[in-house]
Amino acid sequence: MKPLSDAGTNAASGESSNDRLEAERRRLAAIAQQLKIGAYHRHVLLCVGDSCCRAEVGAAAWECLKGELKRRNLSLAEGPQACYRTKVDCLRICTGGPILVVYPEGTWYMGMTADRIPRFVQQHLVEGQPIEEWIFARNPLPLLDDRPDAQARKAGR
Ligand code: FES
Repeated sequence: MKPLSDAGTNAASGESSNDRLEAERRRLAAIAQQLKIGAYHRHVLLCVGDSCCRAEVGAAAWECLKGELKRRNLSLAEGPQACYRTKVDCLRICTGGPILVVYPEGTWYMGMTADRIPRFVQQHLVEGQPIEEWIFARNPLPLLDDRPDAQARKAGR
């Protein structure tokens, strides 16, 4: 990955570090726009790390998740079912995987092998009905307006 620029001005080009930083910010913003970041209502993170599942099990689950999201037009989409996906190496559970977590609901799923993914996508992501028997923890994120700091700002505190 290309590092961000150093401080100061490049005498040869006259380009300042602020110019380079702004150019980098614009480049990344264009990538984010292509990925429709800003339009998503959910983010699914799937752990394929080797402490919670064998590599081939994690890889199969990830390929299935990608395929199901694409097939149902949930990935690179807009609207209330638009979903961003991320493959990660560890969610700090490290057993009983593949572990999967969905935000903003903060629903943590265990044993999300490829054979479970189609039902998860249909039932949780499309129908909004979490699959209770596969859930082992919950941590819903508060809406920004419900957070104490937001309420304090509104109240002028
Ligand atoms: S390796 Fe999957 S949670 Fe740690």
